[in-house]
Parts: sequence; structure tokens; C-alpha cells
Amino acid sequence: MKPYYITTPIYYVNAAPHIGHAYTTLAADILNRFRVMRGEKTRLLTGTDEHGSKIEEVARARGVTPKAHADEISGEFRQLWKDLEVRFDDFIRTTEPRHEETVQAVFKALHEKGDIYKGSYRGFYCVSCETYWTLGELGDKRVCQNPDCGKPLREVEEESYFFKLSRFQGPLLEHYKAHPEFLQPQARAPEILRWVEGGLKDISVSRTKVAWGVQVPFDPQHTVYVWFDALLNYVSALGYKPGQPPTKEFSEYWPADVHLVGKEIFRFHAVIWPAMLMTLGLPLPRTVFAHGWWTVEGEKMSKSKGNFIDPRDIIKDYRLDAFRYVLFREMPFGADGNFSRKAFHERYNADLANNLGNLVARTCEMVDKFLAGQLPAKPPAEPPAKTREAIAASQGIYDAMEKLAFYDALTRIWQIISGLNLYIDQEKPWKTISTDPERVKLVLFDVVWSLRLVAGWLTPFMPETSAKMQAQLGVRQFPAPLTAEEVLAGGPSGARIQKAPPLFPRKPPLPGGK
Ligand code: MSP
Repeated sequence: MKPYYITTPIYYVNAAPHIGHAYTTLAADILNRFRVMRGEKTRLLTGTDEHGSKIEEVARARGVTPKAHADEISGEFRQLWKDLEVRFDDFIRTTEPRHEETVQAVFKALHEKGDIYKGSYRGFYCVSCETYWTLGELGDKRVCQNPDCGKPLREVEEESYFFKLSRFQGPLLEHYKAHPEFLQPQARAPEILRWVEGGLKDISVSRTKVAWGVQVPFDPQHTVYVWFDALLNYVSALGYKPGQPPTKEFSEYWPADVHLVGKEIFRFHAVIWPAMLMTLGLPLPRTVFAHGWWTVEGEKMSKSKGNFIDPRDIIKDYRLDAFRYVLFREMPFGADGNFSRKAFHERYNADLANNLGNLVARTCEMVDKFLAGQLPAKPPAEPPAKTREAIAASQGIYDAMEKLAFYDALTRIWQIISGLNLYIDQEKPWKTISTDPERVKLVLFDVVWSLRLVAGWLTPFMPETSAKMQAQLGVRQFPAPLTAEEVLAGGPSGARIQKAPPLFPRKPPLPGGK
């Protein structure tokens, strides 16, 4: 089976990473860990997008060279992914020779083929989005039309190379029709269909006024448009060069299984990128998945508001696993959502401290106190009721994960957790222990076995918590507790249930009652 290849967008190095970037990369990491847990071979690519007028201007304003600036911020991204325990296999920077060589070779090949030609461009440009706008698209407006942007545009008139995007209207529409899994989530597909059905214009793919970019090999006055450059990272990282025999990595991993992107860059990935791949004669990625955007306390994150959330601040207060959990529990992956400190705090206390944490703590305490920490020497032949329910829930959870429905998967997992807490409340082992110790055994073992499954499901989302739970619950860390036998038997270390400090200590209310 072909290994599973996941990519994140490569992030601009104009400013330090924030929670929005962390969201996409964590989604990729969760998906990747899920696939690994299921025994698949995978590859996760991330990186930084370092060329273009925006970076050039920011560096100039700081009084450093674009390269020095890019080195610094790219390093911050790489460090953040380590802090967030993202297991990436490769980190590509668009300033690396391995990438620039691919960009130049592709530009040249398409020029020779006639899909890139010289012309002149007159229109408007948004430096913030690195996006061109024609008069036809703008009407009498002179601000960027990207949702969530609206910044004033710069008028540009220059000689430029164009990519014959217009040629791909038919093939793209055919591809969308034949491959409904290509545009995900489905709710976002109509935006792309409308755009392509409305007719595609050739797009400008070089600039003469931006020095910080990949030089057009046969016309050094020009640098390659930053998006044309950036999109190629997904194949340059695998060593792809047109006209050359494919590298081992390229043959093994391409096409990508999923490009994860934010909704604002869906069009680039769903229209321009597949057209580029078509002219190169390469297979298209299986899915481009566009997720929604975070606002912070109801507002767009922006430099002027200074309201960027640094993931490190949250982790300092709540620990990494809480951050990884809350981001994917707050809204369905695909929809927009709002990050608020108060909501985060409340969810931490409710779902993690009171629900999951308390369940694990009291279960282990009771097994320790009432049963001397021992599970039965021999596992039962049949799982008891709650464990059976949990085993039955696995399928739904795995199906949700396959579809990147992280919120749905977590909701299902928490239904099981709440159900187990309720079961303990109803059974009251602390009362029945004096009258019916056999019943207590059954109840507590049932909860332990169910929790072993929960720990397995949580591996992609909360790796540290999942490992701690498995240690406490007397199972060697097995990645995907799928079979009833494994759940009931535990690991070879077997039966000893460990008491341990709370997984998520309850937090006092935020100051000011917030
Ligand atoms: N460099 C381009 C991408 C090139 S990919 C070939 C770019 N970079 S970016 O730094 O602006 O990062 C954009 C990505 O960061 C978004 O697509 C999204 O994945 C993530 N987010 C940035 N802000 C976000 C929010 N406020 N909310 C959620 N995700 C957002 O565009």
C-alpha cells in the first residue's frame, strides 16, 4: 500500500507563529499519529515560505537582510513544532537549493511547453495576501477581495510571465466531478466550482520589481511569483524535477493523500496547484482539505490589534495535551471558531479535570483501595457491558478520524468517558464494597478495560496523557487497542493498577470571575 503523505501549508516567515498556524500543523500531526497508530507508513511535510514582497518589506523595516530574517523566523516555526510534539518527517524552506532548483526547472519546462508565456500585467496586488486582482474582479473597489483581508491594494504595471491557467477550466471541472473527495469539506466545494465555472484567466507568475525570489532561469530580470514558487514545495521536498527520473521518495509518496490548508488559501490549492500538476503530467493529490479560521475573543488576529495568541503561553498554563485537545474540541474541523481564554479554561476544568482526569483518578484509587491494585489473574472470556459498548464505539471513532472529523471523534470518546463516570456514580462501589465485593470487582474491571480503549483512542490527540493512562491502567503501550483480547489482558506487566497524581489538576477560577 502506498504510504500516507500529509502536508501542511508552508508558513510565511513575516512574523512569529501563532495559534492559527499551530492549528493546521497539529491537525496534520493528529492525523499522522492516527495513521501510524493503525500501522501505516506515513510522511508529514511542513516548512516555511520565505520569498516575496511581504518578507522583503518586513526584513527591510527591521534593518536585516531577508535571508537573516527568514532564518530567524523559520527557526521559530521549527522550534514551535518541536514544543508541540509535532512529528514531522521533513521541513522544507523555499530558500533551500533543493527547492529553488525544482522551481527553476518547472518554470523552464512550462515555458518550453508554451504553458508559460511572456506578456505584460496591469492590475492590482495585495502584498499581505500576495494576490493579484484584475480590474474585472475588482469593479470599482480598490481593496483586497480575500475574505478577512480588505487591505488597500498596490497598482502594478510590468512585464510579466503568465501561466495558461485558462486552459485548465475543463480538465479541472472534470476532475472535481470524477473525484468528489478532492475538494473537502464538501461544504466548501461550491466556492471553487463557482470560481472555475465562471472562467479562468491566465495568471501572472513573475515579477520584475521583487528581488527576493527565485530567479527566472532564462530571464534574470524576473523572479517567480511567490505562490507559483511555494506550491511546488510539496514535490520539491520529494526531490522532484521535471524531465528527470523520479527519486525514490517521489515514487514512494506522491501523490499526497491530503494537503491541509486554511480556507483562505483553498483556491490556490484547489485550482492553481492542480493545473500546475496537470501540465507537468503528474497525478493530483487525493484531497485538499480547507479548515476554518480562529478568531480571538471574537476578533480577527492582527498586528494592529496585537491579539495574536502564542501557543507557548497557553501550554505554560495548561500543558500541551490540554492545548491539543481543546483546539479540536471547540469546533468541527472545517468550521470557523472563536478562541477565548474563558472558554478554554472552562473546557479544561469540565472535560479534562472533572471528567477524564477524575474518572482515571477515582478508578485507579478504588482499584488500589478495594482490590489491592489487582486485576483478575485471568481475563474473562467475554468483555462486560461497558467494555462491550466501548469496543462497539471504536468503529465510529476510527471512521471519524479517517474523515478528519476530529471533533466528532472527540465527542464520541467523551460520550464514553461521561458514561463511565455515570456508571460509577450509579454503582457507588464505595458503598457496595461491604455488601457485594464481587460486584465491585466487575464494575471496576469493566471501567479499567474501557479506559484502556479510551487511552488508545487518545494517542493521536494527547500522546503524553495517553501514555500516562496506559501506564496507570497496567497496559504496556500498545498503539491501537483494537481487539477485545488485548483490552482485557492488558500488557505483560499485567494486572497492577497504579495510583498517580491527577492527569489534569483542576484550575481555580480565572481572576475577575472570567
Ligand atoms: N505561505 C502561504 C501558504 C503557502 S502553501 C503552499 C500562507 N502562509 S501563512 O503563514 O499565511 O499561513 C497560512 C495558514 O496558517 C492558513 O492556511 C491556515 O492553515 C493557518 N492560519 C493562519 N491564521 C489562521 C487562523 N486565524 N485560524 C486558523 N488557521 C489560520 O498562506
